[in-house]
Amino acid sequence: MRSSPGADGAALRCVLGGPPGVGKSTVGRAAAAALGWRCIDLDELVEAEAGASIARLFERDGEAAFRERERAALRQALRHERVVISVGGGALVDRTMRHEALRCARVVTLRAPAATLRERLAGGAERPLLKGPAGALEALLEARRAVYAEAHAEVDATGPVEAVASAVAALARAAAPMVVPLGLRSYRVHVGPLRGLARETASRSIAVLVTDATVARHWGDAAAIALGGRPARVVLRPGERSKTLRSVARVWDAAGARGADRRAVIACVGGGVVTDVGGFAASTWLRGVPYVSVPTSLLAMVDASVGGKTGVDLPAGKNLVGSFHQPALVWIDPAVLATLAPGHYRAALSEVVKIAAVRDAELLSWLEANATALGARPTAEALAPGGVVESMIRRAVQAKIDVVAEDERESGVRALLNFGHTVGHALEAGAAFRALHGDCVAVGMRAELGLGEALGVTPAELRRRVLELMDALGLGRSIRADEGVARAALRFDKKRENGSFRVALPSGEGEGTVAEVTSSRLTRALRGVIEIR
Ligand SMILES: NC(=O)c1ccc[n+]([C@@H]2O[C@H](COP(=O)([O-])OP(=O)(O)OC[C@H]3O[C@@H](n4cnc5c(N)ncnc54)[C@H](O)[C@@H]3O)[C@@H](O)[C@H]2O)c1
Repeated sequence: MRSSPGADGAALRCVLGGPPGVGKSTVGRAAAAALGWRCIDLDELVEAEAGASIARLFERDGEAAFRERERAALRQALRHERVVISVGGGALVDRTMRHEALRCARVVTLRAPAATLRERLAGGAERPLLKGPAGALEALLEARRAVYAEAHAEVDATGPVEAVASAVAALARAAAPMVVPLGLRSYRVHVGPLRGLARETASRSIAVLVTDATVARHWGDAAAIALGGRPARVVLRPGERSKTLRSVARVWDAAGARGADRRAVIACVGGGVVTDVGGFAASTWLRGVPYVSVPTSLLAMVDASVGGKTGVDLPAGKNLVGSFHQPALVWIDPAVLATLAPGHYRAALSEVVKIAAVRDAELLSWLEANATALGARPTAEALAPGGVVESMIRRAVQAKIDVVAEDERESGVRALLNFGHTVGHALEAGAAFRALHGDCVAVGMRAELGLGEALGVTPAELRRRVLELMDALGLGRSIRADEGVARAALRFDKKRENGSFRVALPSGEGEGTVAEVTSSRLTRALRGVIEIR
């Protein structure tokens, strides 16, 4: 189920979850009435379909069979629009089901302290999972903490039903953030005007704002207002040369001067360099404090903002020191792209093509259909809320979220996102890091598509489509580079094993695989896209 609020920000379904006794059914009915939507109580739906009570189903068929019925009922309910679906406490425990709900509905968790829940449950309907020893409720809450955290919003359900229902209804109507579902480290990616960030950061104390001089000139004041308070500012020199430990130390020093404790938050407002540096500083300050990421370049929006990779370069190579540290919140305002240099905008389109080619057939077709509007320097109309650029960002970010949710630490499917990067990284080194990363990745993809077809991995028709798409988007065909340096850089590639390389390649429409490629084949492919300097 890929049609999602991620694609257009709107959702006509609200899934209400939370622990037993929190009031999902009552609040669900009241919220649906406030919205003029239908209410579906999943437990009632399961009971009606099975012709037996939940307690009876548990007793007769066991929990696994009951969950299967629950999943089928939820899938059925999610096909409707204008519905509030209140779901039994365990319905969202299944990861696949939960992520499906997050993609196509607004998921709201109702919360209340254990004592309140116990009071509400006393004398109520029989709850199969709460039979048994004292402390069963607390154990259940603890076990499901990570499940409940994977939601678009959490609502305190201790107040009067009408107030809780009206909070839920307001959330159901508002534009949805996307959710990166990583259990207790889950976070939300909002797409919208920068001023909306103030609402999200009101309860956080921003100690340090990291940015670069160009971004500060255009957007520094707007960002500072949206972030609130009076954070210390660390303004880096723009560009990759600032992605160093020295820059990280400047952030540490600013945090130290502020007396920033573990509740302090670091905000990063800028391109991938700023978010990588600021994120790494946050991951190491006091062994880890939260950071808010406000990506301002297209590359940072569609790629660096999600996934929690942070780090710096060393003289020996790029990204050699780093950490996985997920942000607490990401805020993307496509309007800030109006001041981004056209070359930076265009180069970043390569990362969108990349993820579409190996993961998302729907995004690939969408890019083909919108290539003309996307490839040109974006107009005010394209950058306006709801415009084509916002739509592309939402789709690309959702695709990246799906990959990260499946494989946070790059031990499996996330490796597919290296498509174009084996040759691309070698080209970056060969061009003495003066060519843009995205431009090198685009040319790297062209070379690797050729490899894929020669190996029988990439269908010829798919290769043709991706090449045509890159042409339509204005992505280059070669890079001026020093061949010797580029070849030497290949030797240090992290994906090299026993003399051959593990290269991510498209293998079908929106699908990819990692293939073994010999060093000589890869070198030939590299040579084919180098313009000799
Ligand atoms: N962490 C990750 O997962 C990840 C993923 C991809 C790339 N990266 C890293 O990101 C970096 C590249 O990112 P980048 O291309 O954003 O580089 P960058 O941060 O250097 O930004 C590019 C240029 O655009 C300017 N800029 C940014 N936003 C602007 C705006 N709204 N208006 C005007 N100018 C603006 C910057 O000042 C800079 O000069 C690399 O270091 C790369 O390794 C990290």
